[in-house]
Amino acid sequence: MAYGLLKGKKGIISGALDENSIAWKVALRAKEEGATITLTNAPIAMRMGEINKLAEQCEAKIIPADATSLEDLEKLYKESMEFLGGKVDFVLHSIGMSTNIRKGREYGDLNYDWFLKSLDVSALSFHKMLQVAEKIDAIEEGGSVVALSYIAAQRSFPDYTDMAQAKAMLESIARSYGYRYGKKKGVRVNTVSQSPTKTTAGTGISGFNAFYEYANQMSPLGNATAEDCADYVVTLFSDLTRKVTMQNLFHDGGFSGVGISEEIVEKMEQ
Ligand SMILES: NC(=O)c1ccc[n+]([C@@H]2O[C@H](COP(=O)([O-])OP(=O)(O)OC[C@H]3O[C@@H](n4cnc5c(N)ncnc54)[C@H](O)[C@@H]3O)[C@@H](O)[C@H]2O)c1
Repeated sequence: MAYGLLKGKKGIISGALDENSIAWKVALRAKEEGATITLTNAPIAMRMGEINKLAEQCEAKIIPADATSLEDLEKLYKESMEFLGGKVDFVLHSIGMSTNIRKGREYGDLNYDWFLKSLDVSALSFHKMLQVAEKIDAIEEGGSVVALSYIAAQRSFPDYTDMAQAKAMLESIARSYGYRYGKKKGVRVNTVSQSPTKTTAGTGISGFNAFYEYANQMSPLGNATAEDCADYVVTLFSDLTRKVTMQNLFHDGGFSGVGISEEIVEKMEQ
């Protein structure tokens, strides 16, 4: 059901790789709620061509940009403003990548070049997106910027390795930049800490199925799906959340508030 929450709003959505991507669902929901958007992803991710289907559905322009490149980001905002006919009202950062995870490196055996790359792609890119936007004044007064995080920023999840540090940095950037951008332009900056979700990035983590099931059984509402996440993110882009900023917002079916659930107790008693 659509509520017209984003009627007349313009936005940029990063990170839609295929139809399982959280960003893919956010793009569809944003369009449904009345927004016009541009889509972006790393040039290398475009090779699969999947994003063209989404662009067609959303009547969106695709603007390739490596989120670690200031030059690409500036081009992204400028071309978006041209296509959309003015400054943007919202931006989604839905970007994460760890070569250490991809290559199965343990926490005690990390490759530090890859560690730095994880931080650059998954966290610093968020700062870069905000800084470039501020410098060229690309975000409308009162706009909203959201990035996706995971509870490994606060708690230990062994197989999440260097991405735990990346997410901690991402959430910290939301607080620091949220203060600055709020003061300057009333722009909101938040992170949404999402349940484990079956996407390319998610399922790339070893033991994913086990902790997906564990989280599902720990959460009174069950895991939040990518579609649920899109619903929530759309409210953060809307005018209904104008005073929410600098927050890490758990969107996890209640997981973050639970010590142990009856389901897990029963399992342990078996
Ligand atoms: N899937 C989960 O379980 C889960 C849970 C909580 C948070 N998240 C976060 O959600 C976000 C989206 O991930 P997803 O689960 O939809 O997976 P996904 O694999 O569909 O999306 C990750 C995206 O990051 C893009 N990307 C990687 N390097 C890039 C770069 N240099 N420049 C621009 N884009 C780049 C990829 O091309 C891809 O589109 C990530 O930040 C992820 O950490 C995922």
